[in-house]
Amino acid sequence: MRFILFVAAFVAYAVFSLADAAPLTNVSGECTFYPNINITAPDMLPAKFLISSADCCNLCANTKGCVASVYNNYFCHLKDAQSPQVGAQGPTAILQMNVPPAPTTAAPSAGNVVIIREVSCQQSGQCDVTSDYTCVTSVYYNNTCLGNQLRVCNTDQTSIAAVTFSGARCSGPSATTQEATGTCEFVPTNQSYDAHYCDVLPAPVKYATVTRTSCDGSCNSGACVTPAVFSTGVCTATSQLSGEFTIAWAFPTYVVYISYLDVSCQGTVQSSIAEPLGVCFTSGSSNTYVENTFASA
Ligand SMILES: *[C@@H]1O[C@H](CO)[C@@H](O)[C@H](O)[C@H]1NC(C)=O
Ligand SMILES: *[C@@H]1O[C@H](CO)[C@@H](O)[C@H](O)[C@H]1NC(C)=O
Ligand SMILES: *[C@@H]1O[C@H](CO)[C@@H](O)[C@H](O)[C@H]1NC(C)=O
Repeated sequence: MRFILFVAAFVAYAVFSLADAAPLTNVSGECTFYPNINITAPDMLPAKFLISSADCCNLCANTKGCVASVYNNYFCHLKDAQSPQVGAQGPTAILQMNVPPAPTTAAPSAGNVVIIREVSCQQSGQCDVTSDYTCVTSVYYNNTCLGNQLRVCNTDQTSIAAVTFSGARCSGPSATTQEATGTCEFVPTNQSYDAHYCDVLPAPVKYATVTRTSCDGSCNSGACVTPAVFSTGVCTATSQLSGEFTIAWAFPTYVVYISYLDVSCQGTVQSSIAEPLGVCFTSGSSNTYVENTFASA
């Protein structure tokens, strides 16, 4: 009996000291593997000889700042970016799971919400719906994935990483481009004036009242459709916006409307827009007048 205990203790000692000696087992990485994809971002460190792609995943999990790796010919190349990705015979691209894109540069959001607005206008170079009814402002609210698109602001809010994923709900390999904030520019490829804004704002209050009135001819013309009245943060049915069910949030100068087909505002976002607060403006057509008003809870 004493001998068996001694052997057991020795085996345990041997196992634990092996574990101590093997740095790759501190954190077991969770990765997704993509054969025949290369990541062309520069290596963080000299490539390391390892016997499996799983070891490469673990090495990345144990390396600060590593978000992806490429395993090729027994060599593991660590990367601090998950893109650019290119097809290539041989290498396996390995993406660490649960890594937000550009984690080291994301704007702080504790107690705040990050609102990324993308304004696109057909007529004027102001990128302002109050002077151009064709302007549409789509919103990435609080780091929500829209379709296969995600947006991340950098810390000083001067640029936005625009991440396009190959899979639904922002999964799978991704490609990232950078967009400058605060400038309205003509974009020849989409034949429109586009601007991007990154706002980090205190979380909005719930249960305040937002009213959206839409009228022909002028605001308060009498030719108005029934105003849509929202309690902020509450899923509300409305015929006015391009989803059946909408959550409204009010900020100092604009209202965000997030619309869903789902009756409880779950799942896929149908549209997510921002409109000015407290001014009458034309939207969609030169004859449709819209005004959003706010009353505190
Ligand atoms: C992968 O990309 C790196 C960086 O651009 C390049 O040096 C390497 O040759 C590529 N590997 C393969 C197998 O295409
Ligand atoms: C316009 O092009 C930019 C890239 O240049 C893209 O990010 C944006 O989504 C496009 N806008 C529309 C409305 O297609
Ligand atoms: C923002 O998103 C986080 C989860 O990512 C959630 O916990 C938080 O309540 C959201 N904030 C608002 C104001 O919607």
